Amino acid sequence: MELILDFAKSLILSKINDDSICVDFTMGNGFDTLFLCNHTKTNVYSFDIQQQALNNTEKLLNDNNIHNYKLILDNHSNFANYIDEQIDIGLFNFGYLPNGDKTITTQTNTSLKAVKSSLEKLSKEGILVLVLYPGHSEGFKEANAIEEFVRQLSGNKYNVIKYDFINKNHPPYVIAIEYR
Ligand SMILES: C[S@@+](CC[C@H](N)C(=O)[O-])C[C@H]1O[C@@H](n2cnc3c(N)ncnc32)[C@H](O)[C@@H]1O
Repeated sequence: MELILDFAKSLILSKINDDSICVDFTMGNGFDTLFLCNHTKTNVYSFDIQQQALNNTEKLLNDNNIHNYKLILDNHSNFANYIDEQIDIGLFNFGYLPNGDKTITTQTNTSLKAVKSSLEKLSKEGILVLVLYPGHSEGFKEANAIEEFVRQLSGNKYNVIKYDFINKNHPPYVIAIEYR
């Protein structure tokens, strides 16, 4: 059985190509950005609000001899200020920086705003993959708000899937959205 992040990545692998416009909306320590950079030739956009995330990610990418990236120190809800193109692959891995300050976590309002605006910029062949962490209190609110939003998206227009462990207490889970 695939773990949550492996499943999220397998969805991306089914869509990504050399020309894909990819956005990592939550850079963190850069592992997801590295994954995206390794599967496309375009510059991957990657956002975080913490300088520490940019430092860690830049080091990881340089150590792996990766050069196709743009690291941006800003709230992901402002992504449209930096990206003109339509988005083919959008990844949100919500929550706080692993091994960092747990009080600096993604927030329901800005997360919802970023998900809504990224959906408006999604290309016809694109996919948005969201990894949600309802095991902490802000993550719980965030996951509920995002799920409420994606549940009301038209089934004629979008495929929305949820990949979840149903026998665990508030486990992380994946939501993915694509055009039908
Ligand atoms: C779970 S981590 C992401 C893991 C990461 N993708 C990786 O591969 O290591 C979540 C990150 O989101 C960042 N973050 C929190 N709020 C944010 C916001 N509004 N905009 C962009 N990044 C944010 C945190 O600083 C943290 O680094």
